[in-house]
Amino acid sequence: MSDLSMQEIAKHLRKPSGKNGKEVAKQMNKGNQHLCLNSYKLLKPKPNSLILEIGMGNGFFTKDLMGLDHNLEYIGLDFSQTMVDEAIRLNQKLIDSGKVSFIKGSIENLPFKDNSIDYITTTNTIYFWPDLSKNARELYRVLNPNGKILIAYRPKKVLDNLEVSNYGFNKYTRNEVESLLAEVGFKNISSKEISEPDFHIQGKSLQMIGLYSTGIK
Ligand SMILES: C[S@@+](CC[C@H](N)C(=O)[O-])C[C@H]1O[C@@H](n2cnc3c(N)ncnc32)[C@H](O)[C@@H]1O
Repeated sequence: MSDLSMQEIAKHLRKPSGKNGKEVAKQMNKGNQHLCLNSYKLLKPKPNSLILEIGMGNGFFTKDLMGLDHNLEYIGLDFSQTMVDEAIRLNQKLIDSGKVSFIKGSIENLPFKDNSIDYITTTNTIYFWPDLSKNARELYRVLNPNGKILIAYRPKKVLDNLEVSNYGFNKYTRNEVESLLAEVGFKNISSKEISEPDFHIQGKSLQMIGLYSTGIK
């Protein structure tokens, strides 16, 4: 992984594939641990609800979400076949329980009926959405009335200090994400900013922040 160029790492952050994609995903599990775990805590799913996670990567943290309550159902959807395969491999026990599944698909065209999902969570994917408004409308479509969306991301001010984000990332501020949610019809929109331990990269120490924007349909 250390011999990959910044462009290659960025390519695998957007869509991990093959052996290098699996390696980059393992590094993501370290670098994104706080963001992923905080997103699940802030989602606060009620018992007996159905959660859709878009872009779960290798699903390393799915067990932590499922541990929040015994009666949750979870579908992880990712457009990388490598990540779907890894998520299945890492979560076989949960899959056998019948409560968890992983499928290949894109945010652009979700294979779900209107009003069929209670919660949608997505972490570190918004930078790669091909059409922000259209994709947010697709999330709105599949959520149940009163369903909750949670988008977790590094804000523009953090990504501006991370070289890898110069290669194919779209960077957003809190206001931009909140406006997007409002534009497609979400209500009760709010964001929470949570600071994390500093991140050490290329001899520099970066102040890490996670932003979590939520809305209700
Ligand atoms: C940067 S990784 C984040 C993985 C994990 N959520 C985390 O924060 O560590 C982005 C993930 O989103 C997936 N992804 C990107 N664009 C997508 C799309 N249009 N539809 C579905 N999944 C997508 C990628 O394949 C990848 O697994």
